[in-house]
Amino acid sequence: MQKLRKVQNCADLLKSFLPQSFAPKIGFVLGTGLGNFAARLEDCRTLPYTLLPDMPASTAPSHQGSFAAGMLCGVPVLMQQGRCHLYEGRTPGEVCTGVRVMAALGVKALVITNAAGAINPLFKAGSLMAITDHINMTGKSPLTGPNEAAWGPRFPDMSRPYDPVFLEISAKHALAQGMSLEKGVYVCVPGPQLETRAETRAYRLLGGDAVGMSTALEVIAARHMGLRVLGISCLTNTNLPDCMAETAIEEIIAAAEKLGASLEKLLIAAVPDIAGAC
Ligand code: HPA
Repeated sequence: MQKLRKVQNCADLLKSFLPQSFAPKIGFVLGTGLGNFAARLEDCRTLPYTLLPDMPASTAPSHQGSFAAGMLCGVPVLMQQGRCHLYEGRTPGEVCTGVRVMAALGVKALVITNAAGAINPLFKAGSLMAITDHINMTGKSPLTGPNEAAWGPRFPDMSRPYDPVFLEISAKHALAQGMSLEKGVYVCVPGPQLETRAETRAYRLLGGDAVGMSTALEVIAARHMGLRVLGISCLTNTNLPDCMAETAIEEIIAAAEKLGASLEKLLIAAVPDIAGAC
């Protein structure tokens, strides 16, 4: 009940900062590299998380920590500029507050982005990957505890967490733009340490194509509430157990920011189709 009230408090406050007729259709979670995407919004309003007492702050480098609302290609959207993570000491419920707030404000689709390391040896650092499925290695779920029936069922289906129609839309626009878009399975780890060689080998054996520290819990919360999801990873580095290079967070952030421009272009092209499909 407390979770429900906190989300409703955030949603009510955020709504009070928006034009009365504003009815957002798509919610975005902007991960590393996409922090400036909100600059593309028309009639943009931003609200720092610090003004929402029940919204957890984001302390990760390059995560701004504010909601943005506005029109993208004629579609009303909400954006979460930055998120919080389990490795910041946050609970699964806190990690998912932003997604639940956007759902409470009426979005029907979630576009969620992140930075990830490629563990498929055929994937190159500097590419984008549309997420076809995930493996949640955190051992946590935002649905632990009493079920909030107002949000969704006790045992939500997870057979297709990433919407097949949205995957087709993203593939179509990537092709039209001559952009390579890999497709693959995202392995979500708690972090903050990067993976050992043995862990990387194990995640690859499990069927993973990329590994990162976010997204899966938010997607579980989104599917619980019936949102349709598109997930895109910026593959910032390669994690190959037999020729493992050292990876520094500064390099990951720089690589994600470089990829941000392509991802923005792809999402701007896809938004009208995503809105049309909802
Ligand atoms: N591992 C985990 N998270 C990441 C990585 C990685 O290699 N790259 C970007 N985020």
